[in-house]
Amino acid sequence: MHTSLSSSPAIVPREKLDFQLDGDIAQYWLDNDPFKTRFFDALSTLFPVGERFFITCVRDFKDRITDPKLLQDIKDFNRQEAQHSMLHTQYNNRLVAQGINVPEILRRQERRLFGLLRKRLSPEFTLGITAASEHVTAIMADCFIERPEIFANADPRIRALYVWHAMEEMEHKSVAFDVLTRVAQASYRTRVLSMLMVSLIFPYHVMKILAYMLQTDGFSRWQRTKIWAKGLWWLYKPGGIFMPMLGKHFAYLKPGFHPWQEPAVASYEPWKRLLKESGDPIAASDSLQLLMMSGELRHA
Ligand SMILES: [Fe+2]
Ligand SMILES: [Fe+2]
Repeated sequence: MHTSLSSSPAIVPREKLDFQLDGDIAQYWLDNDPFKTRFFDALSTLFPVGERFFITCVRDFKDRITDPKLLQDIKDFNRQEAQHSMLHTQYNNRLVAQGINVPEILRRQERRLFGLLRKRLSPEFTLGITAASEHVTAIMADCFIERPEIFANADPRIRALYVWHAMEEMEHKSVAFDVLTRVAQASYRTRVLSMLMVSLIFPYHVMKILAYMLQTDGFSRWQRTKIWAKGLWWLYKPGGIFMPMLGKHFAYLKPGFHPWQEPAVASYEPWKRLLKESGDPIAASDSLQLLMMSGELRHA
């Protein structure tokens, strides 16, 4: 079976957290930069329907599961994802107020995921898509939290939301994968093909929504050209958002891979402690940001 698995933390559903998303958050809340902000805004629009799709695809196999630990993990995974959907809907309501047609984005995604993928593909394959997507969200913490310079000039409320979401994605990162491998016993081919599909389609839709948002914001064609050139460099430059993650991303394709071969990120335990001490996710993420910036926690 799997070798050298690190111990996995408990999946803790955290409910009734208040991120004060109805406050006076600036339209370009990250570095006052339209591209960076709209990149995270585009991600946010995909979460509510996406997470409902993940829950549904895992539920397809629920009747075949007997392991009580896995059944409990699925319950906690569902509760975490339901909270994420709810909070990202609040987040997305801000975007609606800015003139972004979020309902249309959701309708199209609903049609793609539920009207197309779930109708045309086998439950094994849509579970594969779920496990692959969960792998992508699980490395969000590595992407955005472990490198504190990325959120250094972010609105503290939205940063706190992404920190919380990323940490919980990491906590439940093996649930869909365990159902895929142990219960559905999907082939390696299904795992690889579904990951390749996610690797192409997910960034494509994020970029499409990002483009729509920048257009809706009223930037001229020339302004958008400059915004895209700078933004794509931020995403894809060596040491940017994506490049350092490529190894972790494609580790998923190794035969014998398991999500817990990669231990919890260094910021996870401090964040949990800070949240417990303050009871406030914004204060916890602010303190974590200072701690990360101090360099004490950073690992190579
Ligand atoms: Fe989530
Ligand atoms: Fe998730």
